[in-house]
Amino acid sequence: MKPKTYLVKILLLLLVFSCNSKSSELEQNSKPKAKEFFVVPGEDESIEPEIIKKGEVLVAYSDCYHCHKEEGKFKGPSFADIARRYPMQQAYIDLLARKIISGGSGTWGYPVMSSHPKLSLEDAKIMVTYILSLEKSKS
Ligand code: HEC
Repeated sequence: MKPKTYLVKILLLLLVFSCNSKSSELEQNSKPKAKEFFVVPGEDESIEPEIIKKGEVLVAYSDCYHCHKEEGKFKGPSFADIARRYPMQQAYIDLLARKIISGGSGTWGYPVMSSHPKLSLEDAKIMVTYILSLEKSKS
C-alpha cells in the first residue's frame, strides 16, 4: 500500500510542477515588449489643420526633441504613444499643456520632464494639439 501512495504523491507533485512551469511560461510570453499604458477613453474632437501645422513648427523650434521622438522611446514617451493615450479633447489639451509648462513626472514611468516656464499656455496647447494629431497620421 505504502509505495502506491508515494507514487500517487510524486505524480501529483509532478503535475503541480508542470502546471506551474506552464503558467510561468505563459506569463513570460504574454509580457508586453513595450511598456503598456492606460489609454484614456473618449471621442476625438475635430481640430483645424492650421493649428496642427503651427504646433509642428513650435515643437520643432523648442527643445522637445531632446527627449521625445515621434515613434519609439527616448528620454520621454514617444509623441505617437502620447497621441494614442489621450483623446483629442480640449480638457486634455489644457491639462497636457500645463504639464509641459510646469514639467513633472509620474505618469509614464520615465524620469522627469523639465519645466518650460517661458512657454505661453496658448503655444503649449498648440503643441499638444500637434502631438495628439500624430496618432491618425501614423496608423
Ligand atoms: C528633459 C527631457 C524632456 C524635454 C526637454 C521635454 N519633455 Fe516632454 N516628457 C519628458 C518625460 C520624462 C515625460 C514623462 C513624464 C511623466 O511620466 O509624467 C514627458 C511627458 C510629456 C507629455 C505627456 C505628459 C503626460 O502627463 O502624459 C507631453 C505632452 C510632453 N512631454 C510634451 C513635451 C513638449 C511639447 C516638449 C517641448 C516643449 C517636451 N515635452 C519637452 C521629458 C521631456
